[in-house]
Amino acid sequence: MCGIVGYIGQRDAYPIIVKGLQRLEYRGYDSAGLVLYDGNDICLTKTKGKVEDLKNKAEAASCNTGQLGLGHTRWATHGIPNDINSHPHYSNSGDLVIIHNGIIENYESIKKALIKRGYTFESDTDTEVLVNLIEEVKNTEEVKLGQAVQIALNQVVGAYAIAVFDRNKPNEIVVAKLGSPLAIGIGDNEYFVASDASPFIEFTNNAVYLEDEEMAIIRPGKEIKLRKIKDDAIAYPNIQELQLNIEEIEKGGYDHFMLKEIYEQPRAILDTYRGRLLADQGLIRMAGIDQNLEKFLNANRIIIVACGTSWHAGLVAEYIFEDLARIPVEVEYASEFRYRNPVITENDVLIAISQSGETADTLAAIKMAKEKGAFVFGVCNVVGSSIARETHAGAYTHAGPEIGVASTKAFTTQITILTLIALKLAKEKGAFSDSKFHEYLTELEAIPEKVETALQSNVLIEQIAEVYKNSSNCLYLGRGYNFPVALEGALKLKEISYIHAEGYPAAEMKHGPIALIDDQMPVVVIATKKGHYEKVVSNIQEIKSRHGKIIAVVFEGDEMVSELADHIIEVPETSEPLSPLLTTIPLQLLSYHIALMRGCNVDQPRNLAKSVTVE
Ligand code: AGP
Repeated sequence: MCGIVGYIGQRDAYPIIVKGLQRLEYRGYDSAGLVLYDGNDICLTKTKGKVEDLKNKAEAASCNTGQLGLGHTRWATHGIPNDINSHPHYSNSGDLVIIHNGIIENYESIKKALIKRGYTFESDTDTEVLVNLIEEVKNTEEVKLGQAVQIALNQVVGAYAIAVFDRNKPNEIVVAKLGSPLAIGIGDNEYFVASDASPFIEFTNNAVYLEDEEMAIIRPGKEIKLRKIKDDAIAYPNIQELQLNIEEIEKGGYDHFMLKEIYEQPRAILDTYRGRLLADQGLIRMAGIDQNLEKFLNANRIIIVACGTSWHAGLVAEYIFEDLARIPVEVEYASEFRYRNPVITENDVLIAISQSGETADTLAAIKMAKEKGAFVFGVCNVVGSSIARETHAGAYTHAGPEIGVASTKAFTTQITILTLIALKLAKEKGAFSDSKFHEYLTELEAIPEKVETALQSNVLIEQIAEVYKNSSNCLYLGRGYNFPVALEGALKLKEISYIHAEGYPAAEMKHGPIALIDDQMPVVVIATKKGHYEKVVSNIQEIKSRHGKIIAVVFEGDEMVSELADHIIEVPETSEPLSPLLTTIPLQLLSYHIALMRGCNVDQPRNLAKSVTVE
């Protein structure tokens, strides 16, 4: 996610902005920029790279004076990471300057309209479109900046946290928020603006957190003027006295990045399908697929390559693609695929899945597939990453930076993207009716809320973790769509708690694993009432009869399994293909709590790196 920071008051803004950006570095970014205004001259410096690079560039340009300043760390969503796409952005006249965290979904249509009115654009960003829309409104409606921002924001669809100023009004900054966080620090005759309080907590602990669809005009020495964007109603600032320290702020008040990222999943899934899932129009819009539709529809097969958690997402996709779109799929460990001299033809489509976009084995598999003529599509979380640049086309998960080594929100957002692709292809192939398609779209749209519900089992899961924290082994079982979730749950547990855990298709028990069952073996079973429910129940009975301990993940209201299992964790019911998006949540929380109780470093487990960029 991008980071924004702003200052207006009596101090020199430069050191506040630079240090504020350094405080926001934990959010993950690929470029940075700042703008300073002393009432006469504006200086703006921005660069691909790190805040340190920005600092060097700004000081080399003597861009370090002014009592009004804005700063930005960019996590690219529209437009690759480079100097021009970095923020801040000027309007065409050079009078307005903006920084923005979020996604304007309808920026292309707005850009087309502005170009017709003579506007030109330097960057590929949605943000530059927004600042010129504000300028166009300001000029045509002959209103001040605050009103122009309000009118303009009523024309955009998407998420934003913005700070914008007008060269002609050096004593004010206008801020607005929808979907992305924005905090205002209230000092003595000075104001701070930031994505969270970490940039200003050392100056003031009095803060206002804007609510969605609120905007504010801030002027030193004046009360904040808070407005509702939709109807201009006055909103009253809820000034809080913060008691957080820097580290707590970076983790959003959570104890660890992993827990924060588990809880970010509703927003991450929503951001990932935002602008792509148009349920009310019965549409899925994905440029990378639309522009290559024939390749997918005419493909002999789809080969999915990935590693680790991303490979598990690929396994879920295999079930979805074959079940719904009737396209043959095979899922390969990239590290094996790249060396086994596979048969690949130009009629193959290869989908590479990678959160970091830098995994060496996955990158190598892509290059090999391209050499053999395959069309390669990437599903990455990092814009402009090596894998994103190597593939012919792709779709980004908008999960935001994933800091914890154990992948959580990347997994669910990868599945979201892959589900959208499978549904789109199934519809194109006429694999199911319009009403069935619409049913899936509506159900997918409801997933973020259902994830929120699944997260409410956290306290129960912590209690279960207490019971099994000293186990030496653990089995995870699932069938159908939830077999990959069993593998993923086992990976989560082993990589952060160091307990040996294995995932299996539940039906495999008789082929060996059941020999392991005794009263020391906890068995996590995903037993949602879809697909092969009765068969999973009989698997549970086999385990119970050998004194195994059962932790069952079921749909709300389940009765049969509840009679058998030692522990029941409920998730909301959903369609079978979408169930992995919910059943994985309790397994993430279970591994988190057990690891914590064992004194493990949850965010940086031993021997592991967040991105395996070497073989
Ligand atoms: C998952 O929790 C692990 N951190 C690891 O398996 C990871 O999924 C794997 O290294 C692949 O990384 P990527 O998605 O960045 O390619």
